[in-house]
Amino acid sequence: MAQSNLLRLGVNIDHVATVRNARGGAVPDPVRAAKLAEEAGADGITAHLREDRRHIGDDDIERLMEALSVPLNFEMAATPEMQQIALRHKPHAVCIVPEKREERTTEGGLEVAREENQLAHYIAPLRDAGCRVSIFIAADQRQIEAAARIGAQVIELHTGAYCDAHAEGDFAARDRELERLREMSSFAHGLGLEVHAGHGLTYDTVQPVAAFPEVMELNIGHFLIGEAIFLGLGPAIAEMRRLMDEARA
Ligand code: PXP
Repeated sequence: MAQSNLLRLGVNIDHVATVRNARGGAVPDPVRAAKLAEEAGADGITAHLREDRRHIGDDDIERLMEALSVPLNFEMAATPEMQQIALRHKPHAVCIVPEKREERTTEGGLEVAREENQLAHYIAPLRDAGCRVSIFIAADQRQIEAAARIGAQVIELHTGAYCDAHAEGDFAARDRELERLREMSSFAHGLGLEVHAGHGLTYDTVQPVAAFPEVMELNIGHFLIGEAIFLGLGPAIAEMRRLMDEARA
């Protein structure tokens, strides 16, 4: 069941669909994974409907909307097609992410500052439809200010650079990235934005980010789905939840 901890855990189930799509059939089913994640303590489910449908498909979004009892965070590129889909389903939250066809995953944050007017117009109908609008950005003051100006309610800070530096053993760079995330969480909170964070988080990297008091939600996917191979999805999520709660306490 969903927990009422101050720090929410959103479980991203995209890569269950990646495994399913490797064979083109119906299994493993990301909706089944999402229900299991709910039982294991996920406070929300995140799914990214990419333009090329490489993992989650339109039908998955439809079924998630029907099946979930926790909120769906619908990740999407700022395209007319995705706006229409979001307006049809009206998920609890939409997270606007940059998307490049050739990338393996969402590599950087959205360039909000340069596209301010266009993005303001783009998100207005989503807000009017009752979706909480989140913008996935780098921990950069200029981008955060722009996100606030266009009317986003939430920002999600990209933790990829911090996690990559940790994985590469460059601890000086890791600590610099962490400090930047800490400062920018506090800066964004001061502007009245709700702060989320995610990308690349693992058992080894989650706690310093979970300890930031301004961060209200972490969205974690790839590592958890990988760890599920060894532990099972429920125990993998439960361990992440435990580490988050320990860091927060
Ligand atoms: N948050 C956002 C906005 C993302 O795009 C992703 C990746 O889809 C995640 C969180 C989760 O990242 P990971 O799968 O590396 O945990």
